[in-house]
Amino acid sequence: MASSPVSKADFIVVANRLPVDLERLDDGTERWKRSPGGLVSALEPFLRSRSGAWVGWPGVPDVEVEPFEDTGVHLHPVPLSAKEVADYYEGFSNGTLWPLYHDVVAPPVYHRHWWEAYVRVNRRFADATAEAAAPGATVWIQDYQLQLVPAMLRERRPDVRIGFFLHIPFPPVELFQQLPWRTEIIRGLLGADLVGFHRPGGAQNFLWLARRLLGLEPSRGAVGVRTRPGVVPNGDRMVRVGAFPISIDSAGLDALAHDPDVQKRAQEIRNELGNPKKIMLGVDRLDYTKGIDVRLHALGEMLAEGRIDPEDVIMVQLATPSRERVEHYQQMRDDIEGLVGRINGQFGKIGHPAVHYLHQSVDRKELVAYFCAADVMVVTPVRDGMNLVCKEYVATRHDLGGALVLSEFAGAAAELTSAFLVNPHDLDGVKNALQAALDVDPAEGRRRMRALRRQVLTHDVDRWARSFLEALGAQEMHNA
Ligand code: ADP
Ligand code: G6P
Repeated sequence: MASSPVSKADFIVVANRLPVDLERLDDGTERWKRSPGGLVSALEPFLRSRSGAWVGWPGVPDVEVEPFEDTGVHLHPVPLSAKEVADYYEGFSNGTLWPLYHDVVAPPVYHRHWWEAYVRVNRRFADATAEAAAPGATVWIQDYQLQLVPAMLRERRPDVRIGFFLHIPFPPVELFQQLPWRTEIIRGLLGADLVGFHRPGGAQNFLWLARRLLGLEPSRGAVGVRTRPGVVPNGDRMVRVGAFPISIDSAGLDALAHDPDVQKRAQEIRNELGNPKKIMLGVDRLDYTKGIDVRLHALGEMLAEGRIDPEDVIMVQLATPSRERVEHYQQMRDDIEGLVGRINGQFGKIGHPAVHYLHQSVDRKELVAYFCAADVMVVTPVRDGMNLVCKEYVATRHDLGGALVLSEFAGAAAELTSAFLVNPHDLDGVKNALQAALDVDPAEGRRRMRALRRQVLTHDVDRWARSFLEALGAQEMHNA
């Protein structure tokens, strides 16, 4: 990574986090590591294949870092104080908006001082972006932490083209209406030229709110996937509103899964686990929306009922540490770890636990080896905007092995219809789906995996980005 003179960029991604996080090690040294979460997994390979800039927070409070270049991308760090991290990031973003937008699966908390910090930090992002953008640049603002930036940036830089994409669900209007600052958020988003959601339902909710809260006259027709965007006339501008389901670097993961080292490591993982007949795998940020508890409850009951034998079936749960200072996350971690302990206490043997739980992030190659080793991938969120993990699993199974159990409440379920789809609120249904996936006839399993792969390999992240940028009218990007 090299410091570089600040140059103006024609294409800028703006996100709460930079694609790399500054990590302070115990010996006082610092290093950069890849940031967690699906947003970075999706956008980082896309932006690396083009030249552009990325405006974001370096992931730790109270650091001032000069702009620098990382594998061809110009990074523009935006500093946050410890108080802002507490109020804007942990508070309003992850204590208010995250639970509200995920169907209030945990109660959102409304604090005025959190909102004030959100406004202040959004303004700082808008200033940094206005500073970094070349005349007529295309700016692509990402996610729920920055919903005020489109309007703030437009005020400062009416010459730039502004897209906004929401990576999480946009909630039903009845829930959104709880937000004391609902009008300000809708107005903030309407600063963009194009507002994108994963699913048409989110776009439809947004159009309805533009009418209801701001008295605008949006189009009334149904929004399609990548087609037929809605339109909101807003003063002298037209804001388009569409559905663009995000995806992954499918070819990159497919190639990694062909790497002999990765295949060797997958076999090693199976050996290290004692060569069970079946391995079930969960891979998530440790987040209460992911339904990690759902799959553990299902597993516990199946073991208790003798439907599966702990000698034959092992579960591995990889859980990336996430938002550890937010109360709901602390509570959930205790719950999950209690459940793992209870299951292992009851059904494990010395050297042979029923659940292997790692509260760790693993590197990309190691993750692909886990995917290749897993017979059943278990993805059971109670609400998820898209969920990339399920697509990643499919992309790595060129052997057409493995089975995917997927929640209907993940955006990906609309595309991955050949998965074993489950309602995560129906525990018996989850148990039956796990059983069906464990016992699937090999020919039927291959048929399903072939269909899943067709979807994931053709609809990759590049296609997602192109379709969004095309709709934004930023044609020059897809010729880059
Ligand atoms: P979210 O964005 O809510 O975290 P996604 O499923 O969309 O959920 O994306 C999560 C991303 O983080 C995926 O790219 C996944 O591979 C990665 N990931 C999740 N858990 C781990 C882990 N324990 N180790 C490494 N990568 C992980
Ligand atoms: C989800 C969100 C992203 C976020 C990521 C990781 O993918 O949509 O905006 O960056 O989770 O969460 P964190 O709070 O660690 O950035």
